[in-house]
Amino acid sequence: MKLNSIRFKASILYTSILCIILVLFSGVLFSVTRHILYRDVDEELQVKAAEIVNILKSYEKLKQTESRQQHLINKLLGVEDRARLIIDDLWRSDMQALNLKSDYINILTVHGQPIIKSQNFNDEVTALFRNKFPLSPTHAVFNNLKNSKYRLRAVNLPFLYGKKNLLVIQIGTPLDPVIRILNQLLYFIGAGILFILGLTSFLGSFFARRILKPVLNVTKIVDDISHTDLNLRIPEMAVDEEMKHLISSCNAMVERLEKSFEHVNEFSSHVAHELKTPLAIIRGEVELALSETRDIDEYQRVLNVSLEEIDRLIRIIKDLLLIARLDYNPDVFQFENISLKAFLEEIYEYSRILAEQKGLASELEIPESAHYIDGDKIHLRRLFLNLINNAVKFTPRGGTISITLTVMDNRARIAVSDTGIGIFQKDLETIFDKFFRAHHHAQVSEPGSGLGLSIARSIARAHQGQVTVQSMPGQGATFTVILPIV
Ligand SMILES: Nc1ncnc2c1ncn2[C@@H]1O[C@H](COP(=O)(O)OP(=O)(O)OP(=O)(O)O)[C@@H](O)[C@H]1O
Ligand SMILES: [Mg+2]
Repeated sequence: MKLNSIRFKASILYTSILCIILVLFSGVLFSVTRHILYRDVDEELQVKAAEIVNILKSYEKLKQTESRQQHLINKLLGVEDRARLIIDDLWRSDMQALNLKSDYINILTVHGQPIIKSQNFNDEVTALFRNKFPLSPTHAVFNNLKNSKYRLRAVNLPFLYGKKNLLVIQIGTPLDPVIRILNQLLYFIGAGILFILGLTSFLGSFFARRILKPVLNVTKIVDDISHTDLNLRIPEMAVDEEMKHLISSCNAMVERLEKSFEHVNEFSSHVAHELKTPLAIIRGEVELALSETRDIDEYQRVLNVSLEEIDRLIRIIKDLLLIARLDYNPDVFQFENISLKAFLEEIYEYSRILAEQKGLASELEIPESAHYIDGDKIHLRRLFLNLINNAVKFTPRGGTISITLTVMDNRARIAVSDTGIGIFQKDLETIFDKFFRAHHHAQVSEPGSGLGLSIARSIARAHQGQVTVQSMPGQGATFTVILPIV
């Protein structure tokens, strides 16, 4: 599995999210458990302290035994060996009943004078309590006490002994059982998290591979598609909705590529053909002229024919360059505000001269109101002249050519109509393709390279406009240029 693969990233992502959730959850679980355990220990400590206090108070009731009472008072006031012995005896028997062997018990005056302590309350424990657990004569306090040898949970509980003797009982209980439980819990949580993460990353990677399998299949098929077999399509297998979209988008893209390739192939063969014909004519003429000695007129004729063909070649190349510039370099346009009325009158003037030369009538119909467009005058002139040239070219003597302007929905519609030979329905779609020329005998005889309409369409598109055509064979044609009004 590669590090930058989706499969790896997906399983890492899922595993990390799960890891964060598990760690948070475990953290909460651990702290809650710790809290509960400490609370139990504290409650137990409190109960123990209360019971010890009760035992001590019960000594006080042994008033009938004078000596005991005296001993106890003595004990509370100072340290007296006999009193200590009696108290210790009583203490021991009662304490044994409480099962406090492992606890550390100390009873002091509020000033810190020791009264009685359990046997295990040695000097080290005494120092630990003194240093880390300051005496609190007013309220109960719980704390953790820790040094290299002991880890204790301790309680400080003040109580009234007799009527006015305020004493403090301090009990420490080892935290070892709690720590053991917490350690075990920690170990269990750690092992559990590792196991779950391992399992998740394995399952994540497994499922990611299953989910991505169709992607690999599609990639394999797409890899196999080269320019020679663009007709191949990815089968629409039973896959997820997203994959279906991907497959249909890929198929649509391959289809567009196929069309573009066909177009490029067709275009290059057209270009080759269009360039080859004049060159073949020039070559034929020159070869013929060189085959034997000719008179000067014949040489002149050959040179004239060659010049004409060379002009045609130059025109085709220029047109092709123009189309490429129009389609791929919008900077060639220099937009300005153009009055449609003035502009169309100028175009009409040109069409009138051309029409007259061929014995055609011409008409101009424009509304009175002034309309303006944002356009490049030179290129727009080229657009309309191409349409007018076609209209003149494909309209027999006696016909009419008209230019009409209508404005609707902020759009100017300029129609160039003729009453000429018209266009077949089947050709209407391809008429704007480069080098397209209809195979109509009347049209084939007319000169042209089939680039004029292609140029017209490119110019219209660069003006956010379009050119449409309506025609019936034998009934003329109407080319409409639609441009946005400003
Ligand atoms: N007004 C029209 N009436 C009938 N057919 C037309 C008309 N305009 C265009 N066509 C058809 O569309 C074809 C393409 O026109 P286009 O202007 O692109 O090329 P062309 O006139 O043949 O050559 P070029 O304009 O490059 O000198 C023409 O050859 C012709 O068959
Ligand atoms: Mg033309």
